[in-house]
Amino acid sequence: ASEIESDLTKVLVTEEQIDAKLEELASHIDADYAGKDLLLVGVLKGAVMVMADLSRHLGHNVQMDWMAVSSYGASTKSSGVVQIRKDLDTDISGRHVLIVEDIIDSGLTLSWLLDNFASRGAASVEVCALLRKPDAAKVTIDCKYVGFDIPSDFVVGYGLDFAERYRNLRDVAVLAPHIYTED
Ligand code: PRP
Ligand code: MN
Ligand code: MG
Repeated sequence: ASEIESDLTKVLVTEEQIDAKLEELASHIDADYAGKDLLLVGVLKGAVMVMADLSRHLGHNVQMDWMAVSSYGASTKSSGVVQIRKDLDTDISGRHVLIVEDIIDSGLTLSWLLDNFASRGAASVEVCALLRKPDAAKVTIDCKYVGFDIPSDFVVGYGLDFAERYRNLRDVAVLAPHIYTED
């Protein structure tokens, strides 16, 4: 862990805060979907931790599926044109779907996913995101379950990566600028 910590400026959201928030969100989700079948869809890879911990706070007997998407073209940041790398295994027609995400940054990934899911005839599609960067929004996402609004710093941990690293940090932390300006 100390190897990771030297690359960080500060901890933004602690493991304990994340756990308490996911427990709170889960109780809302349990209440809102009472008596309904619910399919959780995690967006690989960032949502793995949120999916694991949120789902275990639920009393609901949910189903889970996963999607992997990536932005088109050379840019590392979401262009809004999204390519499916791994599609759902589930037919979501008529299903109540809750998309589970680690973060809403520009909102472009979720905007595309919401349109895509609507076109498959889901009965309902909602979003649960642990983090949201309001100042970075390029499109507004109607996100029913939000954990924390955070500043537009480069954050890592709890599933969020920089170049595939730092996902296994237990907290969400700000990455030191010298790490990502290095090349
Ligand atoms: C990150 C994050 C969200 C998305 C948010 O995923 O996990 O899925 O970007 O960005 P946006 O709101 O600007 O579209 P990324 O594409 O880095 O893939 P990953 O989950 O595998 O890290
Ligand atoms: Mn992601
Ligand atoms: Mg990423």
